[in-house]
Amino acid sequence: MPNEGSYEAALRRSDEIQADISAGRTGKYTMLTGDRPTGRLHLGHYFGTLVERVRLQELGVKTNVIIADYQVITDRDTTEHIQDNVYNMVMDYLACGLDPSKTMIFTHSAVPAANQLMLPFLSLVSEAELQRNPTVKAEMEASGHSLTGLLLTYPVHQACDILFCKGNVVPVGRDQLPHIEVTSKIARRFNSRFGKVFPEVSGLLTSTPLIPGLDGRKMSKSYGNAISISMTAEETAKLIKKSQTDSERFITYDPDTRPGVSALLTTAGICTGRDPREIAEEIGNGGAGTLKKYVTEAVNDYFEPIRERRHAYENDLDYVRDVLHEGNRRANEIANQTLDEVREAMGMVY
Ligand code: TRP
Repeated sequence: MPNEGSYEAALRRSDEIQADISAGRTGKYTMLTGDRPTGRLHLGHYFGTLVERVRLQELGVKTNVIIADYQVITDRDTTEHIQDNVYNMVMDYLACGLDPSKTMIFTHSAVPAANQLMLPFLSLVSEAELQRNPTVKAEMEASGHSLTGLLLTYPVHQACDILFCKGNVVPVGRDQLPHIEVTSKIARRFNSRFGKVFPEVSGLLTSTPLIPGLDGRKMSKSYGNAISISMTAEETAKLIKKSQTDSERFITYDPDTRPGVSALLTTAGICTGRDPREIAEEIGNGGAGTLKKYVTEAVNDYFEPIRERRHAYENDLDYVRDVLHEGNRRANEIANQTLDEVREAMGMVY
């Protein structure tokens, strides 16, 4: 872990960039972020990152979103359903407002030149640096698999994702700021050994609140506590109905002692733009039934237009494929150009 000082500096840097972007000084910023196509995106993704991506897109930041298909096999041994997951991810993106005329949407596996950056980049990190990465360890433990070479080196692969398109801002959660350090380190080391090709990379903190799963734990498909963007209104109602609350009838907001009730209130609060405490007061003696009805309506009202758009894309798979093909085509153009610069810097021109 980097020391407090560098963490503070990263926070300050993020604030400066946010101020620049909000003031419309977006020209010098290229964002890259992405998702692993292991299932449908849910409300945690939506409020945690998709809203921010769309905001940056609309403010004129160059926005790039990678569907990280090679990352699927960092800790599992199957690519089952990958095509379906990738197409559905594109549908989720489009429905939520990512605009393919502004945002480049593409997959790892379609961009060989970006993956080739892995070779020089691997020479810039030591085994010890890879071994002490806290996320890699946590992910290995969570997966129950042994540490694969790909999982060990995936932070380097993420550096390829970010740097092939000269990304210089990466949206992250507060606790993840240190992870961007791997990419900046690689960029700095490459530049100083071989000549300047890559930009300075900064983490961009998002101000969006963390939305818990329906049981108060982190929202995750594997916990069964996640409302997917693609669910129908009925499926949403059913999931909320069977969520665990507690035996106390009077509704209050207290995430520590009442995780279930409070998660429902937070969800309703985010979807309606209201303070969860105020919603709790209003419901009061109405109990969990009234609360669940309120949350269901809040979620379904908010996501109705998004889900309607999603249905249109579900019925137009040709368009969805076109979006991805065009994104992949552009990504290849950019990656080939960057790889040429890398060969040039390294003197590998024959
Ligand atoms: N690791 C991210 C996830 O698990 C996806 C991802 C791949 C990514 N490459 C990236 C995020 C580069 C930020 C930057 O969802």
